[in-house]
Amino acid sequence: MSDVLDKAVHVLKEGGLVGIPTETVYGLAADASNASALEKIYSTKGRPTGHPLIVHIASPIHRGMSAEQARDAWRDSLSVWSRDVSPQALLLACTFWPGPLTMILPKAKSVLSDVTGGQETVGIRSPQHALTQDLLKRFAGGLAAPSANRFGRISPTSAHHVREEFGDDLLVLDGGDCEVGIESTIVDLSRWDTHGPVVLRPGAISKQEIETVLGQSQLSIKEDFSDLPRVSGSLSAHYAPKTKLILWDSKISDIECSDLKVAWVHFTKTTQPLFLKEALSCSDYILSDDPIDVARCLYALLRELDKQAYDLIIFEALPIADTWDGVRDRLGRAALGSGII
Ligand code: TXA
Ligand code: MG
Repeated sequence: MSDVLDKAVHVLKEGGLVGIPTETVYGLAADASNASALEKIYSTKGRPTGHPLIVHIASPIHRGMSAEQARDAWRDSLSVWSRDVSPQALLLACTFWPGPLTMILPKAKSVLSDVTGGQETVGIRSPQHALTQDLLKRFAGGLAAPSANRFGRISPTSAHHVREEFGDDLLVLDGGDCEVGIESTIVDLSRWDTHGPVVLRPGAISKQEIETVLGQSQLSIKEDFSDLPRVSGSLSAHYAPKTKLILWDSKISDIECSDLKVAWVHFTKTTQPLFLKEALSCSDYILSDDPIDVARCLYALLRELDKQAYDLIIFEALPIADTWDGVRDRLGRAALGSGII
């Protein structure tokens, strides 16, 4: 594996792109301090410029460090990217990093506007995947990495998915299937004085967990993003399959599916709605009751369904409980963007 890592470091130092595994989804990485490398991310993904990127950093933590040493180490690492590393940011880093949490902080002067989308803030995360931590340490710099999918499409959770998106010319580090399966939780700490901490994107680390660590309950999930920095995953349509996807709950008595090939994705206990009798064919897909399991396989399932030439995917709406927030958010956006191409 060390040969591949050496090659990846070389490609990145030369301003190229590398597909990297993380515990959430695969990323399309470039040197965060190289403007022309960052430009390649936008052109390869087809992502509009001006959408900010997350900078991935190595964990400075070593076995045997005291809590105070760990705090100092994170402060040093974060100070490279942020001009104001607050005690709250350090608390979250010490608790959740490396892990599926991105923090939005005031940017340091040296951070390129190609990373921040011209904003005064920067998104930073230290991912948990061992291979990518190894890469980050060898690279000795920050890697900007959006999810390794074409803009608006389903995020990749395996090296195979990344190759499906971008072909075999891209070097992809194969770190197996992603453990978490949906993108990191994003918490904005840059407007503490006026807004408090704000969750911009729900993920595996819940609002409650963040609230508990920060010891306060003023954390709000912002649903109107209009006055917030641009978050491309917050566009209403995103993560979308090409096949039309409809979310169904028992309040919807009818969905037109006569003569259609339908995929029916549901929890075990749900009885088939009557309108499905009209379908030309109906294939069952059973969901786990555990949001962690569903998150892990959600994008792979959407990709698989997209390949099966169904006319329509009907997904049973998810439970309202907070633990489902991340999956519900992605599925809602997937439904909105589905069936357009
Ligand atoms: O789990 C993840 O976060 C994955 C893996 C690869 O780390 N990355 C990811 O990147 O989801 P991307 O680019 O697909 O989504 C990052 C989100 C975007 O919606 C972007 O707008 C937002 O983070 N973001 C980045 N910097 C920001 C900033 N300064 N202010 C507000 N939002 C920001
Ligand atoms: Mg993305």
